[in-house]
Amino acid sequence: MNPPAPALKPLPRHCTFPEAEWRALARHWYPVAYSDEVTDKPLARTLLDQPLILYRTTNRQVVVAHDLCIHRGVPLRLGWQEGDELVCAYHGFRYGADGRCTRIPAQPDLPVPKKLCLETYASVERYGLIWACLASDPARPAVIPDWPELEDPAFKMMHDPPPEWDVTAGRQLENFIDVGHFSWIHTGTFGNRGQPVVAPYEVVRTPHGFHVEYPYEAANPAASALGASPTIRRWMTYDLHLPLACRLAVDYGGGRRHLIFDAPTPVSRRRTRIFFFIARNFDHHVPARQLLDWENAILAEDKPIVESQRPEELPVDLSEEFHIRSDRFATQFRSAMKALELGAHYSA
Ligand code: FES
Ligand SMILES: [Fe+2]
Repeated sequence: MNPPAPALKPLPRHCTFPEAEWRALARHWYPVAYSDEVTDKPLARTLLDQPLILYRTTNRQVVVAHDLCIHRGVPLRLGWQEGDELVCAYHGFRYGADGRCTRIPAQPDLPVPKKLCLETYASVERYGLIWACLASDPARPAVIPDWPELEDPAFKMMHDPPPEWDVTAGRQLENFIDVGHFSWIHTGTFGNRGQPVVAPYEVVRTPHGFHVEYPYEAANPAASALGASPTIRRWMTYDLHLPLACRLAVDYGGGRRHLIFDAPTPVSRRRTRIFFFIARNFDHHVPARQLLDWENAILAEDKPIVESQRPEELPVDLSEEFHIRSDRFATQFRSAMKALELGAHYSA
């Protein structure tokens, strides 16, 4: 006889995803915070509708736990941290790094029952990010993209606090890999209206996603901090790591490499926290603020477009919407998401 299947975890309260999609998404790893956001105070975040509390123990380990006190359902974000423990604001119950309740102040002689334990989640700190997985398989290592430049001191990483957009993560990532829109919505930054034709390009399957190279003769206003020529050739190399992370290397020649990372983390079905950050190996004298302002101006051109897309969910059946040659990367992405049982099926 087969052993009984393990009981499925309940979905988060008010889960906005269809159950099958939530369970498929929950198996993957997502950034939930930058490392420098989790210092000496707990940080509240939401992943796939699951409220989380993140904090750092005295030995610098990050703990990711369900943000809800088991006693009377008060979020721990309202409390505080003492040593390696979280203290609930309402009646002072304390929880240790393994989630176990360690103390009930109103009844200190009561042995704390084992079931008084916060659910904790698998997390990994890498590349200046804290990654978490709600339904990790303890038998499998965390599957996180390979981004070696972020461990190379020649590259300086820069980021702002991660914004939330009213978009699905799939639509946002597809916008990041869309090479056909530069000459249209980005004319306030690097878009060159004189270059509307998208030349054919190859989409190469890799063990975890796709590799695409695409050259673009970009506009080069002074704010780009890339010299005085009116245009500049961006040799763009995308490495997408399924389901929802992509590194874009922009090579300007002479070994000058500017990296742009996009990892949209689903907060809920139509709300996404965007881990968008940059790293580069040249011109370290240019202030990070100036470079981030330039990237933020580009993002500000994308945001209203992506937030306006309907349906909000990424249609993963290729019979939906209309595809042209320049969408080759997007159609491969959609098919891969469908194979992972992610995204919406409107024609089903
Ligand atoms: S609700 Fe947290 S201690 Fe009572
Ligand atoms: Fe864009």
